[in-house]
Amino acid sequence: MTKKIKYFVGNWKMFGDFNSFKIIYKINKFCANSKKTLNKKKVVLCVPNTLLYYFKNKLKNKIISLGAQNCHHNSNYGAFTGSINASMLKKTGAEYIILGHSENRADGDTEKIIKKKIESSLKQNLSIIFCIGETLKQKNKGLTFSTLKKQIKGSIIKKFDLKKIIIAYEPVWSIGTNKILKMNELRKIISFINKEYKKIFKTKRSPTVLYGGSVNDKNISFFSSISEIDGFLVGGASQSSKKFIDIIKNYYK
Ligand code: PGA
Repeated sequence: MTKKIKYFVGNWKMFGDFNSFKIIYKINKFCANSKKTLNKKKVVLCVPNTLLYYFKNKLKNKIISLGAQNCHHNSNYGAFTGSINASMLKKTGAEYIILGHSENRADGDTEKIIKKKIESSLKQNLSIIFCIGETLKQKNKGLTFSTLKKQIKGSIIKKFDLKKIIIAYEPVWSIGTNKILKMNELRKIISFINKEYKKIFKTKRSPTVLYGGSVNDKNISFFSSISEIDGFLVGGASQSSKKFIDIIKNYYK
């Protein structure tokens, strides 16, 4: 295992109310008590906007970070009914933001819009969890690599603060399906992202690359043997403190 910090990011999606604070509380308590891995991991829970401010203020001795899951691409206030921008999220206490999730891409987020969202989130000094991933159709047509390259090139430019952008590779067909890649396939894709990123941005710095898609407390041991993966974006299993904590525990077993 490398010495690099590992990320465990929860994506609650459209889940949770004020009572869900107990999940956050337990995860934070676990992190505070897990002294051996305290400096080896970063735990982030991306919760609905309605809960960010409440959780941030209620959580004492905060070790975990809180994040949002999307934002409007416009940096300023404006006539965008029902929308919230990055600056409004920053003020609620968000430190991270998921952008480019396949569920939002499916809802109409284009690479150009995602780029604007990244730009406006960086202006607010939010750390970005930028999701990329191929659909089953693209995978079956052999378009995985070209899709990932297009998604990276379409939404990130060299002048962005690249250190603030974490890439989350999430094969769309793996999200919520319990289907995961074979180890050699996953290794190949992670190393492709790495190489391509360095080529596109003309840098020697490796990006932080997370994996997401059906990660749970059972299959985490499969992923822990792939040291090139810098962490995980966990959907369904992050809605339970026990499952999420077990993912972290089993990762370090
Ligand atoms: P899942 O979702 O863990 O439920 O597959 C991952 C995600 O959508 O980020």
